[in-house]
Amino acid sequence: MFVASVKKVLESSVQKYLKTTIKSASFSAESVKTSTDHRYVVVGINKSGSKSDCEQLKYPLVWLRDNCQCSSCFDAPTKSRIIDWTKFDLKNAQPKSVSINKQLEVIWKDDHVSKFDFKWLYERSFTAESRQKYLDNHYRPKPMLWSKEQFEMKEFKAGDVFENDEALYDWLETLARYGVAMIKNADLTEDQARKLANRISFIRKTSYGEEFIVRADPNATNVAYTSNLLQIHTDLPYYEYTPGVNLLHCIAQTKLPGAFNMLADGFHVAERLKKENPKVFKCLSTTLVNWSDYGADGGTRFETIQRSPVICLDYEGNITRINHSIPQRDTFFSVDAEVVDEWYSALKTFVDLLHEEAVYFKTEPGDILTFSNIRLVHGRTGYTDTEGNVRHIVGAYIDWDEIYSRLRILANDKRMKR
Ligand code: OGA
Ligand code: ZN
Ligand code: ZN
Repeated sequence: MFVASVKKVLESSVQKYLKTTIKSASFSAESVKTSTDHRYVVVGINKSGSKSDCEQLKYPLVWLRDNCQCSSCFDAPTKSRIIDWTKFDLKNAQPKSVSINKQLEVIWKDDHVSKFDFKWLYERSFTAESRQKYLDNHYRPKPMLWSKEQFEMKEFKAGDVFENDEALYDWLETLARYGVAMIKNADLTEDQARKLANRISFIRKTSYGEEFIVRADPNATNVAYTSNLLQIHTDLPYYEYTPGVNLLHCIAQTKLPGAFNMLADGFHVAERLKKENPKVFKCLSTTLVNWSDYGADGGTRFETIQRSPVICLDYEGNITRINHSIPQRDTFFSVDAEVVDEWYSALKTFVDLLHEEAVYFKTEPGDILTFSNIRLVHGRTGYTDTEGNVRHIVGAYIDWDEIYSRLRILANDKRMKR
């Protein structure tokens, strides 16, 4: 079910891209006027040559002036705006004339001339539909949240992802939508996580270096490097720019019981809370928590501290990040004592719900478990290492900025090939 739905989503997004490409050949305009309040140019853009397809699209004059594509306002080789904002006068963004021929032409009050392609304008239309299309098809794939019952691991072959850009795209798109994907059959060498990260961009370095080895170690400097239970958590919540994606490459696995991975979709659980228990949601999304790491690695000491809520929201109220780590939550809690009881009770509710929605599985040698560190919580049940039965994991991180960028480039290459 999971595989089929992913395939459907991929096919439909490819079809959408194709449609846009075909239509782009025949963009034209049939009317242009300035709005009576002198704030907009309204262009009747025709996207397929048929009159019934004409849309009246409204462009703010100030935006058109700022986005003039002439060589003194826009540097084509670097695709960058270079208009001199010390001389940019908002009040002067008024036209002497607007006209359409092969392009929209605006002659401004100061005689500066701007020309805009209709396709370019159409793609940048301010309609709600057009803006959503850009957000879903170009900005970032829309996350599809999952409950425990809906979860099914989507798998990709390491060889395919390493060699083939279509497979790379499919893996990254799955990771972006579902927050998790498994790479199978990687070599049993310590270079595979790096090789995978390099397929996208580069490893995101942290205080623990680039790759980190998760192995039970009697001299452990971090609770993760023991064979004890690792309670569900997000890694490195004490970084403001916390790493986006974890790669956990299993090189050797204990055959004894234990060492099961636990995963839950933190965004799904937070959305559940928002509906079922809005007071708890509000408390966890507005109380700043001190996250910290006091330690040393490779001879370097660090004291990394960052304050942010357990459930982070953007300005539109979208959930953007989950922070949860019992060991990395500081003893300093810089909030009013009055709010502490309520916050603890809210956290307990959230953690219980995360456990209710958690799935369990055990990775095999050659697996690279990849998942969003800002959306999912993960953990590992305790285990016993014995002679000849030692668990050996190589971990590394990648940042979401690099993944989204790679996805856009791959989608673009895909479009060009067709
Ligand atoms: C970690 C971690 C998981 C594992 O090191 O932070 O979550 O499977 N490890 O050992
Ligand atoms: Zn210009
Ligand atoms: Zn972890």
